[in-house]
Amino acid sequence: MVVPPDRVAPVDGPGIFISFEGGDGVGKSTQARLLGAWLGEVTGRDVVQTREPGGTPLGQVLRDAVLHGDHVDPRAEALMYAADRAHHVATLVRPALERGAVVVTDRYLDSSVAYQGAGRELAPDEVERISLWATRGLLPDVTVLLDADPVLAAERRASVEGKGALDRLESVGAEFATRVREAFLDRATAEPDRWVVVDATGTVDDVQSQVRVDVAARLGLGADQVARGRGNVS
Ligand code: TMP
Repeated sequence: MVVPPDRVAPVDGPGIFISFEGGDGVGKSTQARLLGAWLGEVTGRDVVQTREPGGTPLGQVLRDAVLHGDHVDPRAEALMYAADRAHHVATLVRPALERGAVVVTDRYLDSSVAYQGAGRELAPDEVERISLWATRGLLPDVTVLLDADPVLAAERRASVEGKGALDRLESVGAEFATRVREAFLDRATAEPDRWVVVDATGTVDDVQSQVRVDVAARLGLGADQVARGRGNVS
């Protein structure tokens, strides 16, 4: 959705804000970490690697409650993610952007629209509005969608050693996951200036190489800058 200008707070400071999105088990955390380290190298900026939910101490409490606690009503769930996001942006993301850092977050508001909107079947535009209010309209400069068939992603996840019990959202099944995937893809199509879509089914190195190419192009990084970080994919 294109946000009318009067609802958007001025883009903060000179920092660079990148979010990673996608279904469960597509490798977001690894790819976000690798991209953050590389962007630090090629831009010379501080890098803040964070995530939602759970990027702050309060967020960690909310994460445990929403993912591992008792049943949460879908509207309460949407508000808990929005509360995590409001606090995360106010105390960590915005201050980092204001001092010029690169902020890479593993999930941001598009996860709420996809999971609580399409997945839980709340009204996606209402869910989005709550998050825009919570963040005073802060949107990433680039959102990387790691796209994969949810069944493949589930297999990948199951093969990860030492993985504990499935959290509530991971255990709700393929139909839910397919709705979430389609919602992400629809959002990427609707807002092509913000999103890059990368096929997440390759090796970690292949996916990361593509992510770097696409993010560098979006940020307008020069070839000399990009060359500085070459050869260190993982
Ligand atoms: P993670 O495993 O990627 O850290 O995400 C935790 C779960 O939280 C994942 O199943 C997606 C879900 N989630 C939402 O449902 N809404 C949100 O707004 C966010 C940030 C995550």
